[in-house]
Formats: sequence, structure tokens, C-alpha cells
Amino acid sequence: MSEQASASTSPSGFFTEENSVATVNARMGRDVDPRLAEVMACLVKHLHNFAREINLTQDEWDFGIDFLTRTGQICTQERQEFILLSDTLGLSMLVDAINNRRPSGATENTVFGPFHVEGCPVRQMGDQICLDGKGESCLFIGRVLDLDGNPVAGAKIDVWSDNAEGYYDVQQPDIQPKWNNRGVFVTGADGRYSFVGIKPVSYPIPDDGPVGKMLNSLGRHPYRPAHMHYMVRAEGFQKLVTHTFVGGDPYLNSDTVFGVKKTLVAPFTRVESGNTLWRSDYDFVLARPRQKR
Ligand code: BEZ
Ligand code: FE
Repeated sequence: MSEQASASTSPSGFFTEENSVATVNARMGRDVDPRLAEVMACLVKHLHNFAREINLTQDEWDFGIDFLTRTGQICTQERQEFILLSDTLGLSMLVDAINNRRPSGATENTVFGPFHVEGCPVRQMGDQICLDGKGESCLFIGRVLDLDGNPVAGAKIDVWSDNAEGYYDVQQPDIQPKWNNRGVFVTGADGRYSFVGIKPVSYPIPDDGPVGKMLNSLGRHPYRPAHMHYMVRAEGFQKLVTHTFVGGDPYLNSDTVFGVKKTLVAPFTRVESGNTLWRSDYDFVLARPRQKR
């Protein structure tokens, strides 16, 4: 704790630059939920110390308030600019890492993103999920295993990706078929899964709002490297939310939301078998609820 943060309140309870943290936190009621009290007290401490450390000017804070206002104003049911802000500041990945510490060998989590849609139809193993006929066809194939290498039966694998032009179906409801490049698959006793989609392409996150402006001001691009999203749920295992990334993608080392992990970069092999141009093999390894790092 900094010196200022530990300064005590004045007897009058009046606010000073030196006692700001203690004075604000002393206002907390007695019957406040203990975790809420802990989170808010820590937030106040870091916010005040941030302003103090950089000598925040009035103009800068007015800009900050205006930025947050614009971030809220652009949010709709379909557009969540605050999640984009959290993602591009690396906060989503940090919270994800804190909450998904798994033993080595278990597949790593990564950011969920805003484009998952609950309720996608369950498909048969091997089915095609690309419904707009665009892109380079790719077979996605592998197994769902536990940490001892045993197959996991009854695992529900929810997959989603952008189309060949870099947009999710929900971004183009009047252009793409519903459930384009999405599917849910359930493993049998052998833990195997397979489906045909497209080799995903890299795309910019929505950058026509305040977060896009922020990235531009910071000399950052808005691109994510090409990836396929997975959410794997099975009874008796931790939920896995992850992607596989296309090896060799030019944005692998500069993902605008920091989602890439080395273990999630998957092989995409050119096969040219029938109508299928690519094949990507990847096994998902699930941890039990108490298996933590
Ligand atoms: C995505 O991969 O779908 C995504 C993740 C974070 C922000 C925007 C998009
Ligand atoms: Fe994505």
C-alpha cells in the first residue's frame, strides 16, 4: 500500500489529497457484503493512486469520462463495447488466466469473445457447418480426453468461427444464413469429434467505435489472428473455453485481445481430398474440477 493510501482519515472526516483513499473507504457501511467491500476498497485505492501517480489533469479526466460515456452509448444488445475495452486492455485475458489455472497437459483457456450464440443446433459428427459456400473447406478432427488420456464420452463441443470474409453470422444477419459456421457436436464412447468448416481468416474486431479510436491513437491494429472457437462441456470436468489458431497467421504475435497461447496454435495441413482443402487435428484435454495448477 502506498503512503497516501494508508494515511488515516482526519477527525472531521473531510477529504484531503493525502487521506483520499482512507476517507472514501471509511464511508463504507457496516452491513456491506464482505467481498463487495473488499473489491470496492481495493478499486478506490488503485484508482486514487493511479490519478496521483500520473498527476492526472482535469482535461485528461474529462476526456476519460467522455470516452467512457461514448463507450456506454454505443452498446446495444448486439454490440458490447465495454467487453471490447476489457479485451483490448488485456483485462479479459488476465481474469480468464486467474480463473482457469490448470495442470500442465490440460488444454488452456482463452478469451470467450462476444460472438458465441447459445442454442445452436446439435449436428452429426462429420457434418458441414459452413452454410454460405464461401471459403476454403477444412476438416477439424480430434478427440476429447481426460488428463490420463482416456476418452471423454458425452462431451458437448460448441464451435463457431467467422466466414471467409471475416464476419460472424450475427454481424451480418441479413447476409449470412443463421448458424453459419457454427455447430454443436456430442462425443461418443471414443471421445472423437469431426466436422467440416472453413479454414478461418484473420479479422478486425469492431473498430468503428471508441475502442477502435483508442487502438488507433495508441498505434495498434484491431486484428485477431485466424481462429476457430470452442466451448467444451462434459459432466465431471471443468468447462473449457478456447480457440485453435491457424499456424503461420501474420497476427499470431500481435492479437489485439492477447488471446494467443503457444499450445493453442494448431497445425492446418493442406490435403486436397475431395472438396476438402485443409485438415486440422487437435485433441482437447479436460481437467477435473479440483485439478488446478
Ligand atoms: C472473437 O474472437 O470473436 C473476439 C474476441 C474478443 C473481441 C472481439 C472478438
Ligand atoms: Fe473470434
